Amino acid sequence: MRQDHLISAAHLSREDIEAVLDRAAEIDDDTAAFRQRHAGKVLGLCFFEPSTRTRMSFDTAMKRLGGQTVDMGPVESSSVKKGETLADTVRVVEGYADALVLRHPSEGAATMAAEFVDIPLVNAGDGAGQHPSQTLLDLYTIRENAGLDDLTIGIMGDLKYGRTVHSLAGALTNFDVSQHFISPESLRLPRNVRYDLHAAGAQVKEHTQLDDVLPELDVLYVTRIQRERFPDENEYRKVAGQYQIDAETLEAATDDLTVMHPLPRVDEISPDIDDTDHATYFEQAHNGIPVRMALLDILLSQADD
Ligand code: NCD
Repeated sequence: MRQDHLISAAHLSREDIEAVLDRAAEIDDDTAAFRQRHAGKVLGLCFFEPSTRTRMSFDTAMKRLGGQTVDMGPVESSSVKKGETLADTVRVVEGYADALVLRHPSEGAATMAAEFVDIPLVNAGDGAGQHPSQTLLDLYTIRENAGLDDLTIGIMGDLKYGRTVHSLAGALTNFDVSQHFISPESLRLPRNVRYDLHAAGAQVKEHTQLDDVLPELDVLYVTRIQRERFPDENEYRKVAGQYQIDAETLEAATDDLTVMHPLPRVDEISPDIDDTDHATYFEQAHNGIPVRMALLDILLSQADD
């Protein structure tokens, strides 16, 4: 990887992505071979926002590499409550850990924090900005189920505030992918994300109705409306409950359609899809382990050199 840190999916080349995905496949084939790989190393977990999957899968990934983790714990019981700045927190944790995973409600927080530390830092979500390690596990799941070239993907839901969408859309420009974005008008992709996609020469189409494009899709990536990021609860209520899919919706899709979701889901995917061959979101969440093991392995090994 060309970077010491992983801050944005926009910094990942096709080679970087394939290096992580190939390493993850190796780990999936023979996890035992990596069991002592980073014995004695410590990963710092600093989560300033709620998390289940990301926190637990980084924790598990580090332990499966033979390492250990130190967790800042909830913000309420940390020194952040006493007014400590993010810069100070990460500088302190740098003294305890060999790498750092940071989630923060402010867009740009990881970029800023990375300026204060020399150990590898992974952005595990910065507000409505980026979530690049999620993107790597999304790409791994897509590669396993549909292949990453000659792919038609629909990305649906909260495209404005959804950081997993911003990261995934950018990373997909490295591949031969046609991207369809489905959302209410008020939750379209932010202008800067659209601009970057066009600048990268991506094939991008926007829709307000899933029906317009569903039969063409190989992958449908569904996202949650990011309620916590709406400045006004009324604006949330206007779009809540839209863009739900159920087994009947998918009758118009091909048999091979792969349905993904970064989770947690609220009501966007009906449980009646869970037992169909389309449902890939739990497999996607499980892929967080080999992919985050691969990412940590690459970053920690690079830092040793
Ligand atoms: C996502 C996130 O935090 O951005 N969750 C995750 O990491 N899997 C998606 C979401 O919260 O909707």
